[in-house]
Amino acid sequence: MMRVGILTSGGDCQGLNAAIRGVAKALYESYDEIEIYGIRDGYRGLIGEDYRLMKPEDFSGILTLGGTILGTSRQPFKRMRVIEENSVDKVAAMKKTVARLCLDCLVIMGGNGTHKTANLLREEGVPVVTLPKTIDNDLWGTDVTFGFQSAVDIGAQVIDCIHTTATSHSRVFIVELMGHKVGWLALHAGMAGGADVILLPELPYDISRVGAALEKRRRQGKAFSILAVAEGALSRREAKMGKKELAAFREASGKPSVAYRLAEELEPYADGEVRVCVPGHFQRGGPPCPFDRVLATQLGAAAAGFIREQRFGVMCAMVNGSLVPVKLENVAGKLKKVPEDSAAIQLARDTGVSFGI
Ligand code: F6P
Repeated sequence: MMRVGILTSGGDCQGLNAAIRGVAKALYESYDEIEIYGIRDGYRGLIGEDYRLMKPEDFSGILTLGGTILGTSRQPFKRMRVIEENSVDKVAAMKKTVARLCLDCLVIMGGNGTHKTANLLREEGVPVVTLPKTIDNDLWGTDVTFGFQSAVDIGAQVIDCIHTTATSHSRVFIVELMGHKVGWLALHAGMAGGADVILLPELPYDISRVGAALEKRRRQGKAFSILAVAEGALSRREAKMGKKELAAFREASGKPSVAYRLAEELEPYADGEVRVCVPGHFQRGGPPCPFDRVLATQLGAAAAGFIREQRFGVMCAMVNGSLVPVKLENVAGKLKKVPEDSAAIQLARDTGVSFGI
């Protein structure tokens, strides 16, 4: 009897259910005797022995469903080895659940934090295979993560809608996109939505350059402007600050996020109002786009293939169009940023987009 556990961890995204389904369907095709256990709410369920034996029908009708049928939670990696007030040794508890279920493999779907803990479990001798999920597209070792393209689609739709109202009212609009510490989502949604200015954490902005871009548009007779700004974007001044200084500086601004700070900074340069739109978790919600349905299914089926080959301790990655295993120790703790010399940034600049630099 083959036994496989599946868990989804960290922030949810589109395509998780498609990936769960891909793993399960490919496993059922491969093994006559198999039990698949769904671990509830990510590592929390693994620690607390919260799981259920899944049936084949649990995986039907979920290809297009947003969210995750298994639930998810954020369990910070840095606290995994810390014994809290409840005296639970989290690492030992996770290993105990794996042993109790006699799992031949644990399939883990997640982003950066999740992969650090997956690597820890690997070091502890747990046979794991992981899948790269996140709207941020910031996982090292894979060209793309599922969830990203769906979030880009939503971000672009938001910018499309803002475009029409910004045009009518001759306003400057800042659309703040998620993406955590990297700018993939803002770059792609911004380009797809025809943003005039795109600000990324990888390229700290100079506010006078951003202002100059708005003035240039006005001189060209364009009374409105759209800025696509990554939530992690920062000014040149902020980029020079240490972590604590930056946190204090932002706290003192009294603004909830970068878009609001930027709106204030831009007032002197804008001939009128600067408005803010923060779509927030909309970007992670709803059904996966067709691209993510296919990608998540491919990655899920590849995970089943690696299990068949007993190739553990790896993430299923998409590299140059091929599905490949990447060792977890090469993934964990690394951030895939937008390269400053990326073709996409160059293309945007060639077509008149300002990055505020
Ligand atoms: O990692 C995905 C993500 O949506 C980031 O883009 C964002 O910074 C973060 O999660 C938000 O997390 P939460 O849902 O816990 O507020």
